[in-house]
Amino acid sequence: MLVIAHLSDIHVGGSDRSVERADAVMRYLDALPYDLDAVLVSGDIADHGLAEEYEQARKLLTSRHPVLVCPGNHDVREEFRRVLLGEPAASGPVNRVHRTGGAVYVLCDSSVPGRPEGHLDDETLTWLDGVLGAESDLPVFMAFHHPPTTLHSPIDTIMLQAPDRLADLLAGHPHVAAVLVGHAHTSAATTFAGRPLLAAPGVVSTLRLPWEGATTLAECADYELPPGLVFHVLDDGRVTTHHRVVPV
Ligand SMILES: [Fe+2]
Ligand SMILES: [Fe+2]
Repeated sequence: MLVIAHLSDIHVGGSDRSVERADAVMRYLDALPYDLDAVLVSGDIADHGLAEEYEQARKLLTSRHPVLVCPGNHDVREEFRRVLLGEPAASGPVNRVHRTGGAVYVLCDSSVPGRPEGHLDDETLTWLDGVLGAESDLPVFMAFHHPPTTLHSPIDTIMLQAPDRLADLLAGHPHVAAVLVGHAHTSAATTFAGRPLLAAPGVVSTLRLPWEGATTLAECADYELPPGLVFHVLDDGRVTTHHRVVPV
């Protein structure tokens, strides 16, 4: 059995609240009487992509568990690489593969510099196809920021563009156990290309849904609902997801 924690959208730098909330979630995970296989943070790490925001995020995301990150639309690739990952600054997509325990984690960059919507560009899809082909002996968790399908949320207007290209690619890689995303600031479970598509709740805020009175992106952010995360359990090829709210 393999257990990972999945959180998203900490938006460090947007407010004091963002730091308090990210800290509360990470302290909760560090206090668990269990060594997680990974803590995955699916983008929007910084709110404005500033170096000082990534300095703060780097400290907040320090954990006794392995922490894996991918960028979101609020992130800036150069500073994300330089400050958060400790690598030379570069403007290309931040795509990474990690192997921990009994699974492979493939983290893709769905951000489009300067734009809120997402896209997996040719470089990323070519890289992804090669990695998935080479890593066919273990189950794969694939993660990126933008949901590739509608979630019936105001965020649907800025979801991943051209998702069929990813669906076609996944058809050739049945060992991808689940696709993990953020951006929606709400915990959601559906399917994409026949796989579980699992969105983590937002740490900094929750985006309310149309039946909760929100119809546009501008009016749907709720800063009072508590931060949360999801645990994904992989056992015998099947993924089970548990939602957890964390007190601040
Ligand atoms: Fe976000
Ligand atoms: Fe986002």
